[in-house]
Formats: sequence, C-alpha cells, structure tokens
Amino acid sequence: MNLQESFEDFYRKESHRSITELSDEALTYSKGLYHFVMDAKNRFLPEVDWSGLSVLEMGAGRGGLGLHLALLGAQVTLMDFSSTALSQADQIFESQGLKVRTFLGDVTQPDVELSEKFDLIIDSHLLHCLTEDPYRSSYYRLVKDHLKPGGIFLAETMVHRKKIFIPDGFMFDEKNVLWQMLGQWTPVRRILDSLDLEKELKEVQFEIIYFYYYGQYGFVPHKSFLDLPAEILPAAVRLVVKNRPS
Ligand SMILES: C[S@@+](CC[C@H](N)C(=O)[O-])C[C@H]1O[C@@H](n2cnc3c(N)ncnc32)[C@H](O)[C@@H]1O
Repeated sequence: MNLQESFEDFYRKESHRSITELSDEALTYSKGLYHFVMDAKNRFLPEVDWSGLSVLEMGAGRGGLGLHLALLGAQVTLMDFSSTALSQADQIFESQGLKVRTFLGDVTQPDVELSEKFDLIIDSHLLHCLTEDPYRSSYYRLVKDHLKPGGIFLAETMVHRKKIFIPDGFMFDEKNVLWQMLGQWTPVRRILDSLDLEKELKEVQFEIIYFYYYGQYGFVPHKSFLDLPAEILPAAVRLVVKNRPS
C-alpha cells in the first residue's frame, strides 16, 4: 500500500461516523493552529478583510482549519489527493451552511494548476508527508505559483530533535525519512532538522517572515507513537513565508 492508498483507506474507514461528529472533531483538532493563523493574518495581511480573503488549504483532509476560516467569512478551497476526505469535507462545510471548493490532486505533480491565486495558503501537517526532494520542490513551486502578490504561505510541520523513539513497524533512515511497514516498507514522513527546513525554504526563494521551533510540543506521527513522552517525539515548527520579489 502506498501513502495515498493508506490515507484513502483511513478516511474510508471513518465513513460510518456522523458528519456532526467529524465536523466537531475537525474543528477541535485544528483550534490551536487556527489561533496562530488568525494572529499571522492580522500581522502579515492586515489590509485584507476576512470576508475578502481567499484561502487554499493544502493536504486539507477534512478541512478543519479551512472551516474555521470559512466561518470568519473567508473563501476557502481545499486540495487533497484523497477523494473520500474531500467528500467528507464537502458534507462538513454544508452542515455548517458554508460553501467550499475542493480540488482533487497530488500537490507534488509538476503540472497541477488551479484557476486562481490566493492571499493565504495554509498547510496543516502536509509538508512532512512529502518524503522525497523533487516532490518537495514541486510542492513549493505549486505554492509559489498560486500566491497572490503579497500573499503568505503558513505551515505547521514536524521536525527532528536529538532523540526520537521509533516503534516496531517503523524505521528512520539517514535522510530523515520515516518508513512504515504497510505490506512493504513505505516512506511516510520526512522529519527534517529545523535548520535544514529553513535552508530548504531559502533555497526555493521564499522569504521567511516567521519561523519558530516548538521544542515542548510532541508530534504524534501515527497512533503507534501515542503515549510517548514529548521529549522523544518529533517537535514542531510553525512558519510563515512569502515569495521573494523577483
Ligand atoms: C497528516 S494529514 C493532515 C490532514 C489535515 N490537514 C489535518 O491537519 O488534519 C495529511 C493530508 O495530506 C494529504 N496528502 C498527503 N500527501 C499528499 C499529496 N502528495 N497531495 C495531496 N494531498 C496529500 C493526505 O490525504 C491527508 O489528508
């Protein structure tokens, strides 16, 4: 099973749950990051009202973060490669009386083109799912090409710390790729050192306007990592970048 099939499988297995339950969960789960997005928008995009704000959520899953922003009046588009996740997102937005645009696609494909550009592109836990260098570059290109002038890209992603516990069924290689046994060994996460992440962002010509390492935060990459102390789980980085003027 590859990563896309594994996500599809995960969302399909949740299809029996009610939309109210999924909606409550999506809102609760993304609340912390939502507060960060609000602060960042007010700080870096003060001139655009929430009601005029166009937002693209990458690797949106059920779009919990986008839902918070849509409730403030933003026009939200969700992109994911799981059709099941996007269909659940559609129903969740509808249950709140909101409209959402969805775009089914792989963010690492170089030919992806959406018909508009956005003030704000958000990434809640997608970046660390992109395990290979050319795919990460394609993703950054996609983001860069879809930002309006002055627009910002904001992400929360897991990063490495000195010691990470790797449970049975996973392995971690020298390129900081976490592999999972899904019938065969499959690359599932890239847990970069925060300094390498910063370097990567600069190399693709982003201007970093916020970059903060949350050492106290313990990121759970998978339920097999649950119940571990934060000190031996990946840490988190929250970042905001914009296109460097050409
Ligand atoms: C860790 S989940 C995060 C979901 C959601 N953003 C959240 O914070 O709950 C990663 C999401 O990214 C999607 N995804 C992973 N790789 C992708 C890719 N290459 N293209 C598009 N979507 C991708 C998965 O289907 C999944 O919904």
